[in-house]
Amino acid sequence: MSRCVLSALVAVITFILPVQAMDNGLALTPTMGWLHWERFMCNTDCDTDPHNCISEKLYMEMADVMVKDGWKEAGYEYVCIDDCWPSRERDPKGRLQADPKRFPGGIKKLADYMHSKGLKLGIYADVGTETCAGYPGSLGHYDTDAETFAQWGVDLLKFDGCNMPNWTLLAGGYINMSIALNKTGRSILYSCEWPLYEWQFHQPNYTAIQQTCNHWRNFADVYDSWSSVKTILDWTADHQNFIVPVAGPGGWNDPDMLVIGNFGLSRDQQETQMALWAIMAAPLLMSNDLRAIDSQSRQLLQNRHIIAINQDPLGKQGTRKVKVNGFEVWERPLSNGRQALAVTNRQEIGGPRNFPLILAILLTWKSCIPQCNVTQILPQYRELGVQVLFTKLQLPVNPTGTALLVISPATGKPCSKQQSKKWLRYLSKDKRQREVL
Ligand SMILES: *[C@@H]1O[C@H](CO)[C@@H](O)[C@H](O)[C@H]1NC(C)=O
Ligand SMILES: *[C@@H]1O[C@H](CO)[C@@H](O)[C@H](O)[C@H]1NC(C)=O
Ligand SMILES: *[C@@H]1O[C@H](CO)[C@@H](O)[C@H](O)[C@H]1NC(C)=O
Ligand SMILES: *[C@@H]1O[C@H](CO)[C@@H](O)[C@H](O)[C@H]1NC(C)=O
Ligand SMILES: *[C@@H]1O[C@H](CO)[C@@H](O)[C@H](O)[C@H]1NC(C)=O
Repeated sequence: MSRCVLSALVAVITFILPVQAMDNGLALTPTMGWLHWERFMCNTDCDTDPHNCISEKLYMEMADVMVKDGWKEAGYEYVCIDDCWPSRERDPKGRLQADPKRFPGGIKKLADYMHSKGLKLGIYADVGTETCAGYPGSLGHYDTDAETFAQWGVDLLKFDGCNMPNWTLLAGGYINMSIALNKTGRSILYSCEWPLYEWQFHQPNYTAIQQTCNHWRNFADVYDSWSSVKTILDWTADHQNFIVPVAGPGGWNDPDMLVIGNFGLSRDQQETQMALWAIMAAPLLMSNDLRAIDSQSRQLLQNRHIIAINQDPLGKQGTRKVKVNGFEVWERPLSNGRQALAVTNRQEIGGPRNFPLILAILLTWKSCIPQCNVTQILPQYRELGVQVLFTKLQLPVNPTGTALLVISPATGKPCSKQQSKKWLRYLSKDKRQREVL
């Protein structure tokens, strides 16, 4: 079997219809930035906790650090406000207004501040009668609120789904706000929670969602814990047949914020979150305190190799390929025929365990005919070089940690007769046998 024949075969097998994503020209790669919720929540107590309360000062300080400490340079761009920013009352004209005490300059000034630093501002609202924390909701005010955000110069809207009188109104609400944003004429990235609030009642219409939103939350809020990160990964893998095909440039599944740099994840678990968020083509919205983050977390969040996987222009979300012997193998197709591969050790007892690289490569055989170039990104960067198929390399993976690799086709030598025979033998085994190989 010639390499060319196989490549042609692969091209046919992997042909997928183009994704009909939302057409506002935004989020062609997953959004990168910072979002206050997981770390700062609804802390409005600026009297006793001025350093951490939801106020204009918090976002301005975060923006300053983002520019100063390499975050912007690494690609993090959006500084996003979550719940608890507004005043309890709309203004006399029915418009949302920022809490005057905590945002004395108003949102317009904050947006100008972000733009002056080459950053963008995100804001938060809710499709229902009230936000999740009980601030004014947008139901019945979609046009006014979209117009207000556009006038302020806002660049992203996170639109939550609490307090909708009847879940059957969710789809219409999210679509109406999408139209309202479009009508303003301002490019405003639209981050939805539509499927998250619909799943408990029925299977959401992902075709409609991808035509409406730039990204969408499917599952529960992330917490600062390994059990939370694990649950999100499991949910994603269990629903990958529904949600992966709809992801692509302009529209992404959103597994929620990165909690790296906080209190709950070990170093290995932080690496797992970063690696898998890259594999899942997830928005990289950090929720942490960039003013006081340890250097290990910073290096991980700014790791350009991982960010390049996340931002790969092909824009295909990865999937979990196999669960074997307490390991999970996830794969994401990348541009130029490359693949990213993550091997997570899900065993939470014992020490590092070896995963045979051959098994990893077999799962991504497309890149490896007759040989491939393997680069390990996590836990350490190492160029493993050009590997022929039946290599004996082992990948040690710590409990709850992840080995992340990029595998590229290595040009040059054509298949040797011997290698081709091995391939034929391998490919002639049925799928189940291959997986236990
Ligand atoms: C929600 O709306 C549907 C369709 O209009 C209706 O059949 C249902 O009774 C409503 N449910 C509630 C709790 O109001
Ligand atoms: C969305 O807009 C349509 C058309 O104007 C309207 O009938 C519907 O009630 C709106 N839905 C919501 C939730 O506002
Ligand atoms: C509004 O939608 C149209 C059609 O989908 C699109 O071409 C245009 O760029 C959108 N405008 C904005 C501001 O999002
Ligand atoms: C889902 O939404 C799409 C796009 O709006 C629509 O064409 C399709 O009929 C919907 N599917 C179902 C099952 O409602
Ligand atoms: C393998 O990939 C690494 C990392 O991208 C690169 O530096 C190296 O030149 C590649 N080697 C070959 C033979 O393509």
